Amino acid sequence: MSRDILSAAESIPSSCLHRIFRAAERREAETGTEVVKLHVGDPYFDPSDDVTDAFVDAVRRGDTKYTGVEGLGGLREAVVDKLRTDNGLDAAVSRLLVTPGSCQGLAALFQTLTGPGAEILIPELHWPVHIQQALLAGLRPVLYPLGPDLRPDPEAIAAAATPRTRVLLVNSPANPSGVVLDRGELRTLLDLARTRGWHVVSDEAYEHFLYDGEHTSMASLERDAPPEERVVHSVFSFSKSFAMTGYRLGCVALADDRTADVMKVVQEANIIGTSTPVQYAGIAALKSRAESTAANRKLVQHNRDVFLSPLVEAGLLRELPAGGWYAMLDVSRTGLDAETFADRLLASKGVAVVPGEGFAMRPDADDRGRVRDHDYAPWARHLVRVAFCVDPAALETGVNRLIEFVDECGGGAAAG
Ligand SMILES: Cc1ncc(COP(=O)(O)O)c(C=O)c1O
Repeated sequence: MSRDILSAAESIPSSCLHRIFRAAERREAETGTEVVKLHVGDPYFDPSDDVTDAFVDAVRRGDTKYTGVEGLGGLREAVVDKLRTDNGLDAAVSRLLVTPGSCQGLAALFQTLTGPGAEILIPELHWPVHIQQALLAGLRPVLYPLGPDLRPDPEAIAAAATPRTRVLLVNSPANPSGVVLDRGELRTLLDLARTRGWHVVSDEAYEHFLYDGEHTSMASLERDAPPEERVVHSVFSFSKSFAMTGYRLGCVALADDRTADVMKVVQEANIIGTSTPVQYAGIAALKSRAESTAANRKLVQHNRDVFLSPLVEAGLLRELPAGGWYAMLDVSRTGLDAETFADRLLASKGVAVVPGEGFAMRPDADDRGRVRDHDYAPWARHLVRVAFCVDPAALETGVNRLIEFVDECGGGAAAG
């Protein structure tokens, strides 16, 4: 057996998120002062009390044994009810799997949908974890170009596809761009996927964070088709909607029973099951969702409206993001590439942001998911991502210091 490579994982570059995470920690340790953290998508607000109580009560009464691999019946029924009434899905308990976070749900879904030589279409600007997950599952990522406004272009997607394409990844609202796809755009992508015989993985982690309209779940557009003809598998998270990031809870609504049965096998091997008390917390979160999701959206929208507007005025942000928790700034007028910009901003102002390149990696992988080489989309070299779900005072400080830093770089005229 060859010992030259441990596994495909050894060839995967670590994500930009981890690098900046470590750099911020290092600076805090070295200077003894707190870094203004605009690099992490962790909310400053907490889950509502009923969620905490449900978790603690489950622990106290000893509801801490394994549940079935697919999750607690009560939670799955509550999720199905929510998907039917709020998302317009024809969901069913038999096709619903609870997962320890949507990240794990996505990884397991990719493992479920993989096959020898299979490829997955991922947007050129993406959440880096999607790429890592695809590679680990043995799905070869093929990056599809986006239009100038960072929206998917169906013609470009069709052109990027090959006979080996098996999965199309859609993420709306998108991390990191904040782009929200409308019904018409989702319909076009769905038609393309159905015509070509692709699965669609619809990552809807930010479904409750839309600031100018309503969220559309792509699977609702095929609710009238019989399950065995459906292609959209939808992934949801409790992390963002209910501020439950550390609880680790998500769920996957599979298109059809066959895929659901296969994913159960994958999950048996991966997790055995999801934490039981956390699932009780999830039931409570769904019960009070109307109030909590509206309140949480309002908090983030306030941050967006008040503290991102100066970035628009400074010409660093084209427009306020329509959804999600992140904004991509264009810092090209500083003359610095995003990596240098982020390093210097952290060193001189104590503000952490993520260089955009890391969201635009283009790996060249072989059929087994081993990365032979990689580069970055050149247009992302001047983008940096800021998270606006953070404490308003920190966001205000961070944005002010960032604009100050841009001015000190001799930014000149607004980049527009
Ligand atoms: C687009 C997207 N999907 C999924 C996740 C995973 O969320 P979780 O595993 O906490 O449910 C994240 C987290 O940041 C994300 O940005």
